[in-house]
Amino acid sequence: MSLDKYMKIRINSLPPHKCIPFDLFVMIGGRIIHYLRSGDKLSALKIDHFEKKAPEQFYILAAERANYQKFVRDGLLSNELDTKQKATILRESTMVLVEELFERPDIETALRDARGVVEDFVAFMDSDAAAMVNLIGLSSHDFYTYNHSLDVSIYSLGLGQIVGFRGHDLKELGLGGLFHDIGKRYIPLEIICKNGPLSDDEWLMMQKHPQFGLQILSEHRSTENIIACAFEHHESLQGNGYPQKLTAEEIHPMARVVSVADTYDALTTKRSYNDPMRPTDAIELMAGKLNGRYDPEVMRALQAIFQKLKTAA
Ligand SMILES: [Fe+2]
Ligand SMILES: [Fe+2]
Repeated sequence: MSLDKYMKIRINSLPPHKCIPFDLFVMIGGRIIHYLRSGDKLSALKIDHFEKKAPEQFYILAAERANYQKFVRDGLLSNELDTKQKATILRESTMVLVEELFERPDIETALRDARGVVEDFVAFMDSDAAAMVNLIGLSSHDFYTYNHSLDVSIYSLGLGQIVGFRGHDLKELGLGGLFHDIGKRYIPLEIICKNGPLSDDEWLMMQKHPQFGLQILSEHRSTENIIACAFEHHESLQGNGYPQKLTAEEIHPMARVVSVADTYDALTTKRSYNDPMRPTDAIELMAGKLNGRYDPEVMRALQAIFQKLKTAA
């Protein structure tokens, strides 16, 4: 069945108790079924129930995209929802867009649309002091490239803000986080999805993704900052990273932030072949055994965020 007519949405991206201004469809047994008529409401309980059962099975008509985006944006501006609800709506509505960004062959449009995503996150962070902690608290801890990319972008924005990035630079950093692993588009899927540790050859292939990222982003005339995040996020301040073995001063300041965000997310995320580390253990490892690889100022920012998360919990 062709899904061209439809656009997938996440059920959790819909603000509860509001009249939904478009029809809602659900996929059951491979068939799309009309579920809610425009003008109906969904209770928070029902959204929660579906989120647990089938979070990825909801669709709207593709023609309703602008209507959906306006509905989500209005929800984010309303005074009736708390910061956590808003953070959930923002994250969930963005996930679908991030999936599109990575699957779409037209990278130039994806790069352009991604600016809107990062701008929404920065505006939300600016509007509410508790926004960042709430967004980070929702980190998925599931390792899919899309989740990981979005989480690295959010962590990079949080860390970047603490170490002093502002305005245009902060947005560039968020985009650098979002696209840091874009080079994985060129890595065979069986390596990306391998259910276990990689062989030496597979590892060598995997290590090419920063180079591929550089290539893809340069071809599409991305900015120097975003390219640096993709090309340099596996470098180490000690000079033992890859692919260029750069040393401290040579690594782009934004790539240093993305590097911390990327490692922290990878360590605290569940992969099929190993359990996630607890945040405290991940920070301890990065500040202990791996000490010297990461920018100390960014590491202090990571510890500050972790403290805030603990206080908020
Ligand atoms: Fe990477
Ligand atoms: Fe990564």
